[in-house]
Amino acid sequence: MNRGVKRVAAALGFTWLALFAASANAQISQAPEEPQRPAAAEVRSPDGRLRVAIRVDGEGRPEYSISRGDARIVDWSRLGFILGDKPKLERNFELAGHEQSSFDDTWALPWGERRSVRNHGNQMRVALREKSNDSRTLSVVFRVFDHGVGFRYEFADQPALKQVNIVEELTEFAIAEPATAWWIPGGEWNRYEYLYQRTPLAEVSQAHTPITMRTASGLHLAIHEAALVDYAGMWVRRVTGQRLKAQLSPSTAGVVVRRQAPFTTPWRTIQITESAAKLYESSDLILNLNEPNKLGDVSWVKPFKYVGIWWSMHLGTHTWASGAKHGATTAETKRYIDFAAKHGFRGVLVEGWNVGWDGDWFANGWDFDFTKAYPDFDLEGLAKYAKSKGVRLIGHHETGGNIVVYEKQLPAALDLYARLGIDAVKTGYVADAGGVRAPGDDGQVHFEWHDGQVQARHHLRVVEEAARRRITINAHEPIKDTGLRRTYPNWVAREGARGMEYNAWGDPVNPPEHEVNLVFTRMLSGPMDFTPGVLSLEGAGGRRILSTEAKQLALYVVLYSPIQMAADLPENYAKHLKAFQFIKDVPVDWAQTRVLNGEVGDFVTIARKDRHSDDWYLGAITDEEPRLLSVPLDFLDEGRRYHATIYRDGPKAGYQGDGHDLQIETRPVSRHDRLQVKLAPGGGQAIRISPNPGRLKPRAPSRSKAKPQPEFDVE
Ligand code: NOJ
Ligand code: CA
Repeated sequence: MNRGVKRVAAALGFTWLALFAASANAQISQAPEEPQRPAAAEVRSPDGRLRVAIRVDGEGRPEYSISRGDARIVDWSRLGFILGDKPKLERNFELAGHEQSSFDDTWALPWGERRSVRNHGNQMRVALREKSNDSRTLSVVFRVFDHGVGFRYEFADQPALKQVNIVEELTEFAIAEPATAWWIPGGEWNRYEYLYQRTPLAEVSQAHTPITMRTASGLHLAIHEAALVDYAGMWVRRVTGQRLKAQLSPSTAGVVVRRQAPFTTPWRTIQITESAAKLYESSDLILNLNEPNKLGDVSWVKPFKYVGIWWSMHLGTHTWASGAKHGATTAETKRYIDFAAKHGFRGVLVEGWNVGWDGDWFANGWDFDFTKAYPDFDLEGLAKYAKSKGVRLIGHHETGGNIVVYEKQLPAALDLYARLGIDAVKTGYVADAGGVRAPGDDGQVHFEWHDGQVQARHHLRVVEEAARRRITINAHEPIKDTGLRRTYPNWVAREGARGMEYNAWGDPVNPPEHEVNLVFTRMLSGPMDFTPGVLSLEGAGGRRILSTEAKQLALYVVLYSPIQMAADLPENYAKHLKAFQFIKDVPVDWAQTRVLNGEVGDFVTIARKDRHSDDWYLGAITDEEPRLLSVPLDFLDEGRRYHATIYRDGPKAGYQGDGHDLQIETRPVSRHDRLQVKLAPGGGQAIRISPNPGRLKPRAPSRSKAKPQPEFDVE
């Protein structure tokens, strides 16, 4: 705006405000400093609160904004691409048309945090046409839900744009209100395995998604993506102020995405809610933006709990490599199978069973053989032994990030497992960022990133090959989760953050706030194989885990995954059998999930209802601060009485105090109760709530008005 206009605007100050307020509900709000540019198209959420607008600026640059009521959430932010071999798709556009539609359907989750998900929103497809360059077109599709927005680009098949070679995506996210951000660095050597930082958004450098933000007015936002298929993963890089920009994961090829039109990009997602609890609950948006199940009948995908020859390697008492300390021996595996059978675990993971771990496996992975067991490991015999005990071995494919070797062996490796009835495989890609060895079209080996287009393709290839054999996949050092479990329900979990292993050897170990940070960041994207339950609270060399026993139990409820490991050694569980009972009881498949309270990085309480009984489970965790949370039980059925088995921090408990001070108590509860949940510093609380057996009979209405009474008695 030039000075003259500014002066006139200032003179008319009040009029402007009045006009602005009056128009707020009608057309898209016009930024007062740019009144000459009306938005060209807009779409609202079903409740009318969120509003997405798109326009082209004076130079034909497409840009979008998001508002909530009268408040701008995302300021005008640019859209477009830089291509490697054709003029960029960024300016000289006009809006060639737009169409709107609504959708409202409900679909079932074969397994998950709830039984079904409602997909309710409004869609706007906007066609952009260039006024030069053979009138190339690019469409942007927005879907607006009550708690967030997703949008993606559509590349149509057209003579001037058949082969699309993207070197940069220009999508921006200019967050309007000052905000605090929780984030991990994107593009650094340790992939997603960093501690979360909390900084002003204006101090973020380059971050992975989900990146979570709390604005000055208390709104909670998260930027992520959905349906990352055959495309490079998106990091966000801060340009200026609070303006973030998509930064696609690199490739040594220079071009980061190669596609033939027609194709669509992944969805860019922005969750917008009034609380941290709602932010977590609004993550269904990511699943809704994924394609429905492509695998047909997936009743063979079974959520399960497992134990394994795993923690001992991280403690250093066993090795993956062969030799005197080799962990994956036939005798040791039998010990784990017996333990699993005795305590009701379906799975036994065995790492280090196959040839290739000797020498520096971290560095290359050329030696891995996925069909050849070490001589002291009787794969066939153990698979049979496990089956005879009602237990299954869980397969393990550590690739060292070498997918040249892995892809060659993949069909045979999966065939072997399928033949032996091994229906779950943990994969691993231990290599630094940029250290994935991948086969190139030129027959050469190329170095790639864990979240680039090459790995996006690789992971789906593994998941599809596995699905053909009715095998589920749990990837470590993975590409991030973008909700593809909806389309491929055999992709049950992944790592993609700092898990329990850092408490064995980490320097530093995970601080008390780590898991609370995870809930509102990493966990927005989907299930994590965190591997909780180390009740010994000891890492390598007796290193103290900064937790309490009660918190270890609560993690099973708080950190969702359809597969959960009991990560500690059998001999350690033998010393903590009372606490272990909760790990044995807790389900891994849920009918409902409620986030009862929470603040990012501080504390959270989640209640989940078992899919196969009327039991509820509740987990509460805190950071280094002690807390007293008042938790209403109004999610319980009216007219039903329950008993709660409470695993709580004792008076001496704490991450610096006696982590083993655990108190277990049973008490009657009903939906009219509030529990006072006391958490020690670095502590937690885990509760199982079961309906009392017996018939319910109505009882006389209570005379007391002060406190509602349960309406039924148990006979
Ligand atoms: C890293 C994984 O996160 C861990 O679970 C596994 O034990 C090692 N890689 C070896 O595959
Ligand atoms: Ca890892």
